Amino acid sequence: TGILVPPPSSSSVPPVILTQDELKKIAAYKAVEYVESGMVLGLGTGSTAKHAVDRIGELLSQGKLKNIIGIPTSKKTHEQAVSLGIPLSDLDSHPVVDLAIDGADEVDPHMNLVKGRGGSLLREKMVEGACKKFVVIVDETKLVKYVGASGLAMPVEIIPFCWKFTAIRLQKLFEYAGCSAKLRTSGENGDPFVTDNGNYIVDLYFKQDMGDLRAASDAILQLAGVVEHGMFLDMATTVIVAGELGVKVTDK
Ligand code: 5RP
Repeated sequence: TGILVPPPSSSSVPPVILTQDELKKIAAYKAVEYVESGMVLGLGTGSTAKHAVDRIGELLSQGKLKNIIGIPTSKKTHEQAVSLGIPLSDLDSHPVVDLAIDGADEVDPHMNLVKGRGGSLLREKMVEGACKKFVVIVDETKLVKYVGASGLAMPVEIIPFCWKFTAIRLQKLFEYAGCSAKLRTSGENGDPFVTDNGNYIVDLYFKQDMGDLRAASDAILQLAGVVEHGMFLDMATTVIVAGELGVKVTDK
């Protein structure tokens, strides 16, 4: 799959096809322009955030950035950052984070997000909730009219105890929006996917708009057994979208 970038009409240069991954990289590199020496940085998780973390590592190794402290949002990002020599810490030692850069699965017109299809939503929400600035990096396929509109998963992290009971209760909450709840599995055996925190994930799929997102969030979080959900409401301060016509930066 690729996205066609048309050259200027007067140009004889053939059109350039950028892959989705190249667009993710463009957004990520743009976000790293916000990073300054001495910052405490939230390091996101996923294929888009990976480009940003690589870039931060590269700038550190070149001496173009200094005294950065990274707060990883997953074990995977922790490993990547260690391999790049990025000094790391955690929220216990650095409760205030200057800037976080992370991808998203959906971005609505109000800069509300769905995150966690990579399974790291809880740590992402903790780190990104502690940030002064949260820069979201996506390619244009992630833009949606409303949360859930992609028809893809809105993840909810739950404790493993009686997970079916919790999944059914989640589905019932959103019956009005044609919701179906599925336990996320991994591997060929269909074993439950286990998060970095030892929990399970139930993915919610919606046929219709769930409406008031704050009310939906409150209702989910009130269920015993739920740890966190993947709606990131009113958290992003900047959204960087890389697409067919270039890069668009929107600040709140
Ligand atoms: C992981 C996430 C990711 O940021 C989200 O899934 C986007 O991933 P990608 O950049 O690979 O498309 O929330 O929990």
